[in-house]
Amino acid sequence: MSTWSEALVCPDCHGALTPCEGGLSCEKDGVTFSRNPHGYLDFTPEGRYERVETTSEEYADEQRTNWRRFYDAFLDPWLQREDAKRILEIGSGVGMGIRFARDEGKEAYGIDLPCLSPFWAKVENDPGSFFLAEGARLPFPDGYFDALYCLGVIEHVGTIVGHYTLGDHYREERMAFARELLRVTKPGGRLLITCPNRRFPIDIHHEPTDDATPPGAMRFRRWFFDRFGLTLHWPFGEYHLFSLGDLRRLFVQDCGASSAEPLSLRHYFGFHRMGSLPGVSAVKDLAASYIENISKPLRGTCFDPFLVIEVRR
Ligand SMILES: C[S@@+](CC[C@H](N)C(=O)[O-])C[C@H]1O[C@@H](n2cnc3c(N)ncnc32)[C@H](O)[C@@H]1O
Ligand SMILES: [Zn+2]
Repeated sequence: MSTWSEALVCPDCHGALTPCEGGLSCEKDGVTFSRNPHGYLDFTPEGRYERVETTSEEYADEQRTNWRRFYDAFLDPWLQREDAKRILEIGSGVGMGIRFARDEGKEAYGIDLPCLSPFWAKVENDPGSFFLAEGARLPFPDGYFDALYCLGVIEHVGTIVGHYTLGDHYREERMAFARELLRVTKPGGRLLITCPNRRFPIDIHHEPTDDATPPGAMRFRRWFFDRFGLTLHWPFGEYHLFSLGDLRRLFVQDCGASSAEPLSLRHYFGFHRMGSLPGVSAVKDLAASYIENISKPLRGTCFDPFLVIEVRR
């Protein structure tokens, strides 16, 4: 195991860092980035994420079990399509994808919020490849990565902690996030961004916790979620999810990426969850086949439940 990586720079001035007692320091800014009690370098602002918990034991277990299939069937072919060797995952969760990529000899790093560090320690993630950092403030140099991926994370940026409700400054926060992801990607490099589609009225990833919903509708949404594990939402107006247009506006129009194109959902999902839904097994194959075969013109429209977008810097 390495203790730190030479790829790291100061997340503020992007200048060199030097090893010091307990971590790394930036001489220019006079700041130190310390290792937390689990041994991972922490680049997040002190106290900001103290009470943020994004991952349960159950969710971590799910990631540990499901990632091998996802990596082999979807992610690895995507990385290999343009022979990406330097890779970053934003919001890596437990970090299985980065572990698999490193096993294959790639230079791969994962970043996530401080609450992930006990889960990293449990599976012995290398403190030289996993760092505590926010997507909007990364400890890597400009243009360092061939490819970067960020799966099911962007819809949480700018929301109020513990909710999926948008905060007052969500536009600025999402802009800072997108700009920073592009900064560390090489010119012509790729970013894979995924998120449930705001234009599709069913969300398979999140619970219904939107404060703006009238109480009666909220009760129905809650009942539907408890019964089927799916969240109904209105496909128009402000909501924490993104549409294809929202992602294009953010990455291309506002942050200068050259393109943002929806990819096929083929091999993205394992459909393991659907099997456990009561009464759904009969339509499971049909739904799976629909999702796997959404034709190109329908990608990103109201017929497409989930966005898998390739952004090119
Ligand atoms: C829904 S989980 C997805 C985990 C993993 N990407 C996967 O697909 O298995 C979202 C992850 O994003 C992380 N996250 C949320 N906001 C973040 C931010 N601003 N910067 C970095 N990570 C963030 C959370 O801590 C959590 O691990
Ligand atoms: Zn600095």
